[in-house]
Amino acid sequence: MRRPLFAGNWKMYTNTREAGELAAGVRKQLGELDAVDVVLCPPFVYLADVVDVVRGSRIGVGAQNTHWEAQGAFTGEIAPAMLKDIGCTYVIIGHSERRHGLGETDQLVHKKTAAALAAGLTPIVCVGELLEEREQGKTNSVLERQVHGFLKGLPSESLGRIVIAYEPVWAIGTGKTATPAQAQEAHIFIRKEAAKATTPAVAAGMRILYGGSVKPDNAKELKSQPDVDGALVGGASLKADSFAAIARAAIK
Ligand code: 13P
Repeated sequence: MRRPLFAGNWKMYTNTREAGELAAGVRKQLGELDAVDVVLCPPFVYLADVVDVVRGSRIGVGAQNTHWEAQGAFTGEIAPAMLKDIGCTYVIIGHSERRHGLGETDQLVHKKTAAALAAGLTPIVCVGELLEEREQGKTNSVLERQVHGFLKGLPSESLGRIVIAYEPVWAIGTGKTATPAQAQEAHIFIRKEAAKATTPAVAAGMRILYGGSVKPDNAKELKSQPDVDGALVGGASLKADSFAAIARAAIK
């Protein structure tokens, strides 16, 4: 049985006051909920504040990126152990805004995932095709490359912790959501490829989230798909009410 997971990716939004208020608002609505896992991913500079606000509740905190080395002369970077040190338990890796906006490669996503696992964090690794790739019928080959690209060679004992987020790039921030059938089809494919890269048992237990214009009014139908185990929410996670409504829509 896979536990549903709802993660809010705040991207490069909020300030000190807004981050604190948003975290407090989510805590108020979801802090005691035990039917699903809830994770907040604020910008780096507000992580410690958000950890403080949700301390003692069931809500987890995750970063939006990590470096792959444990420490060193890497100006401007943050190590996985530092995230763990301040109370993070999750980290988003390989978001499309980093893959496509900042040139992050499959190899880099692999190294970051390995480092996150070694530090004891739960990685939420993003995969997903561009619009032109979907239109050219390349969705599966892109997903295959991305899934094998990061999973291959990871230590077997930590594989069970990995979360995958399927985020079709054309659905991110566009208001254009994948249909539940499109999401389910991609999730089945990802699970099948994950089984080849790991084992069928590991892949069967792996949580695969959908991301891309998830809103309170489409969350229930998406989550009702058998292979959709939750959501990675962008815009709608910036309001406690809409994020809470999405997480609650999934219960039942
Ligand atoms: P939106 O929910 O704003 O489309 O963003 C999705 C996303 O990128 C989450 O990581």
